[in-house]
Amino acid sequence: MSIIKACIFDLDGVIVDTAVYHYKAWKRLANELGFDFTEHDNEKLKGVSRTRSLELILKWGGVTKTAAEQHELATRKNQWYVDMINHMTPDEILPGAKEFLEACRNAGIKTALGSASKNSMMILDKTGLTHLFDVVIDGNKVSKAKPDPEVFLKGADALGVDPAECVVYEDAIAGVEAAIKGGMKVVGIGSPEVLGEANLVLNGLNEMSLEKLNNL
Ligand code: BG6
Ligand code: MG
Repeated sequence: MSIIKACIFDLDGVIVDTAVYHYKAWKRLANELGFDFTEHDNEKLKGVSRTRSLELILKWGGVTKTAAEQHELATRKNQWYVDMINHMTPDEILPGAKEFLEACRNAGIKTALGSASKNSMMILDKTGLTHLFDVVIDGNKVSKAKPDPEVFLKGADALGVDPAECVVYEDAIAGVEAAIKGGMKVVGIGSPEVLGEANLVLNGLNEMSLEKLNNL
């Protein structure tokens, strides 16, 4: 018998691939400010909060802005991002994600979302996944960003399970670290070179199964 009672999923890069939308919106902002922003730069922003992402981009572009200006820039970027994710459909769910969520629920394993994004509810709505989560903890509900474990601990607490009974699914190093700090098992989604600290690393949830969950 497995001791695992709950699975907590990161959203961007695990359930859906929104990185391209973040990239387009940040690139447009950087270009308006007079410098470029590459896909390589975008990689470094995976799992990083909106505010911190902007700080890094401004630093890379050698641009200084006041707190009020930064707020306006982050809002502008988010409006472009929201315009894009507003057109998302269930076709954009990553392979195997929906099936694994359903398998968990059918097996009596609780499910939570644990994401830095403040747009999580909209993405779940557009992709038709809202009903598959018992609990959603997102950027609106946490004060400390990953690698702090707050987002996952709040998820476990809301589900009424101990951290040791949870498995986290994460594509960002900061997220893998957050899960470990929270005392949870973690499945990395991506490359073993980057996410080597995880208990198991897969290319996607299409490679995950209840059998693998029980053997973690
Ligand atoms: C994370 C993404 O899930 O959410 C980051 O990996 C993003 O790239 C962060 O910056 C915050 O998202 P949002 O939707 O609140 O701007
Ligand atoms: Mg992610």
